Amino acid sequence: MKHNVQGNIDGIRDAMLQQLDDLYSYELEEGEYLPRELMKMLAAYSCRLNREIAVYITRDGEIVHVAVGTDSDVELVDFRLRRNNRRLSRIRCIHTHPDGDGHLSDVDLSALKIFRYDAMTAVGVRGGEPVNVQTAFLKSEQEILLPDAVAWYRVPDLEWLEQIEISDRSVGQEETDQVTEKPERAVLMGIESQESLEELKRLAETAGAQVVGCFLQKRDRPDGALFIGRGRAEELARDCQALDADLCILDEELTGIQVRNLEDLLRIKVIDRTALILDIFAQRAVSSEGKLQVELAQLQYQSTRLIGQGLVLSRLAGGIGTRGPGESQLEMNRRRIRERVTELKRRLEAVEKQREVRRKNREKNGTPVVALVGYTNSGKSTLLNTLTGSDVYAQDQLFATLDAVSRRMETEEKTEYLLVDTVGFIRKLPHTLISAFRSTLEEAALADVLVIVNDGASSEMTKQHDTVEQVLDELGATEARRIEAVNKCDIADPWPTFPGAVMISAKTGAGLEELKKKIAEALQENYSQVTFVIPFSKYGLTAQIRPLGRVVSEEHTDTGTELTMAVSREDLNRLLRQYGSELVKS
Ligand code: GTP
Repeated sequence: MKHNVQGNIDGIRDAMLQQLDDLYSYELEEGEYLPRELMKMLAAYSCRLNREIAVYITRDGEIVHVAVGTDSDVELVDFRLRRNNRRLSRIRCIHTHPDGDGHLSDVDLSALKIFRYDAMTAVGVRGGEPVNVQTAFLKSEQEILLPDAVAWYRVPDLEWLEQIEISDRSVGQEETDQVTEKPERAVLMGIESQESLEELKRLAETAGAQVVGCFLQKRDRPDGALFIGRGRAEELARDCQALDADLCILDEELTGIQVRNLEDLLRIKVIDRTALILDIFAQRAVSSEGKLQVELAQLQYQSTRLIGQGLVLSRLAGGIGTRGPGESQLEMNRRRIRERVTELKRRLEAVEKQREVRRKNREKNGTPVVALVGYTNSGKSTLLNTLTGSDVYAQDQLFATLDAVSRRMETEEKTEYLLVDTVGFIRKLPHTLISAFRSTLEEAALADVLVIVNDGASSEMTKQHDTVEQVLDELGATEARRIEAVNKCDIADPWPTFPGAVMISAKTGAGLEELKKKIAEALQENYSQVTFVIPFSKYGLTAQIRPLGRVVSEEHTDTGTELTMAVSREDLNRLLRQYGSELVKS
């Protein structure tokens, strides 16, 4: 039978193993240190086996490890990270004493010190029932706080949970501060290509890591258990140790089990490309909608990885891969994740409705939208700034812009339009992100004109362009007129070839007049400026026509009203069919 129960399981029947394995899906409620129900289960199992049982519980009430020992001993597990091992491990150890005495032993107390558990608890068991319970906490690195044992039904849950927080502050704070100030030392491992690995390096640096090693092992198919094959993984473990790394980033999307297996082997935090990108998004989200979207994407990513077996160090270690807009959200258990996802979806729906209203209004006003889309770092924000003379955050970093920023512009013919800057695309853009950012990205997808900004200085321009096309396809952005622009021409070497594209430099302004002309032409195809002549006899028509577009001027003459405005071809044709060509001044 497949199970995850660790330790001395010889001779234990399948049915019992199943019950022990089920402990992994036991979820503690908020405010529970050790529920009576769980204590009774542990006591019953421990008595039936006459062996000690240990369960390890995270701060968020999730059981991450279940182990069986002998009648007087149980293996105590080290959950500390190799580098950050002076902080509390964020895990408490609860174990039974089947001899009936719930007092902690000296071995228990020294394990608390060495392994830096949040707390160490013993439950005395007699006749299949819990009797008394004792818990110890760390007061400082070397000092232990040991309150008296209490009757099993008198466990002061809140007090003990609070004590963990106090211990954490007194033991870990100083250390935590130092740790978070130092950049994390990252080792990167790829299986696809050098280019993809280079990009991963930029992503890691954007997230604030110091990249201390990059390894590529080309393979067509990832190895199931460890992703890169055991031999290579063992070598990687040695590399990580030699480079004193605290983080290993894999250039693909991994399963939760692969992350866990690798962490077990490397003894440092392991994250994948998706978690890294999500982390950067989490750092960048500014608007409340952006934050909701990132949190949703992170939770969705995480919920498929909560496998309820073993410990995923990544979530406990802090730092890159664990940061998010939601308060300590990365420590949630399955049930709370489900609740939060529903809540986030509800709030996002409300925001999307508002966005829909705004979009409808814009359509009603006839303001066309021109969206800048392109690979991350291709220069979209810089272009928006140069074109509009505004001050959007532009940085030589990946994903500097997360929220769709828009500015009002006008063509020489005085057609007004909205210029929108969008989130950058990237290869292997996590699916959870595309779905979470769908509404923001749809803003681009529904634009009248798309300006695809290509990075002419990158040797990867063609591949990046393919990715952009792919994402646009996925978003169903098929109707908009497209203008291709090759940016950074001031530093492009060799000169990029891209038939039909406008060569520009957002930095020097070169080629921007031509780009503006192309935008105007594209808009012109959809919108035209006309002067309607409405005689007094049909004055009511003015009220009907005015909302169809932006009014440039309105003049009252001897014969009636002359209304000059930008309207869509479609509306114009309809009006002409209905009222005849004399409605428009030739
Ligand atoms: P994301 O927010 O990641 O999608 O990036 P972005 O496409 O908005 O790129 P951004 O405007 O932030 O520019 C990225 C980097 O390229 C910045 O360091 C810019 O200064 C630089 N850059 C943009 N346009 C040009 C250009 O025409 N020439 C040169 N030399 N550098 C440019």
